[in-house]
Amino acid sequence: MITSLVPASPEAIDDGALHGIYAYPVTDRPFVRFNFVAAADGAATSGGFSAELGNDGDKRIFAVLRRLADVVLVGAGTVRAEGYAGALVDDDDRSWRAAHGLAPHPAIAVISGSLNLDPSGGFFRSAPVRPLVLTSAAAPADRRTELAEVADVVECGRDTVEVSAVLGELEGRGLLKVLCEGGPAVLGDFIRSDAVDELCLSISPLLAGGDGPRIAVGDSPTGPRALTLASLLTEDSALYTRYRRAS
Ligand SMILES: NC(=O)c1ccc[n+]([C@@H]2O[C@H](COP(=O)([O-])OP(=O)(O)OC[C@H]3O[C@@H](n4cnc5c(N)ncnc54)[C@H](OP(=O)(O)O)[C@@H]3O)[C@@H](O)[C@H]2O)c1
Repeated sequence: MITSLVPASPEAIDDGALHGIYAYPVTDRPFVRFNFVAAADGAATSGGFSAELGNDGDKRIFAVLRRLADVVLVGAGTVRAEGYAGALVDDDDRSWRAAHGLAPHPAIAVISGSLNLDPSGGFFRSAPVRPLVLTSAAAPADRRTELAEVADVVECGRDTVEVSAVLGELEGRGLLKVLCEGGPAVLGDFIRSDAVDELCLSISPLLAGGDGPRIAVGDSPTGPRALTLASLLTEDSALYTRYRRAS
């Protein structure tokens, strides 16, 4: 049973309450929410994947966040590690989305500079909507041609993918409710660009050990960005934090 610590309430949090807590604000530009899970020792992976880190409550919130999003955005490293084949939402989610004015499936967008993505892999072949590949002008032309058969390939920068260009592309497509599911390199990019509006971080009651990454990697020339706690839920010793950009 998920309950709320902030604001404090002993009541069980049902799906309707989760929808209210995680509702996107109404904005005229992309609102960027990141969702991550980490072990209590800070590890963002166990055995190279995040799946072992999340408990049932995390999975429930993970599904609700997808249900509410216009687009699921991921880095190529996460696609290569975790697969991302097939529909991202189930039948109930599609019904709920249709009843709430959303497209049946969220769009799916992947950030890749190398375009080292298999066009015959499940990410592309079993996607219910044509994926969006966000790359740079420096990407290999042959891979770009191959991927253009199965996805919309868009240049978002000259040498690397630029966060401002990514957000401009999503905005141009009317995809304002952005759910970024990682990974650590992409979160690092968005932190540097001051483009993280919200971080949903599940902290699992686990000590993962190992040498897995933190949830954000890369240079941090700008120093820390301040956040405020927007909500805090719990179930079975896990904490489901939701932080907003401090105003
Ligand atoms: N704990 C969690 O919640 C969670 C969530 C997501 C992922 N993960 C884990 O994180 C690991 C993957 O980490 P990662 O850092 O490699 O993943 P990532 O951030 O998903 O992907 C990194 C890749 O994205 C592309 N990329 C990112 N920024 C770019 C830019 N500015 N310009 C061009 N390309 C850019 C590059 O792809 P190319 O190499 O194709 O150029 C880069 O190698 C996996 O083990 C996964 O399981 C954990």
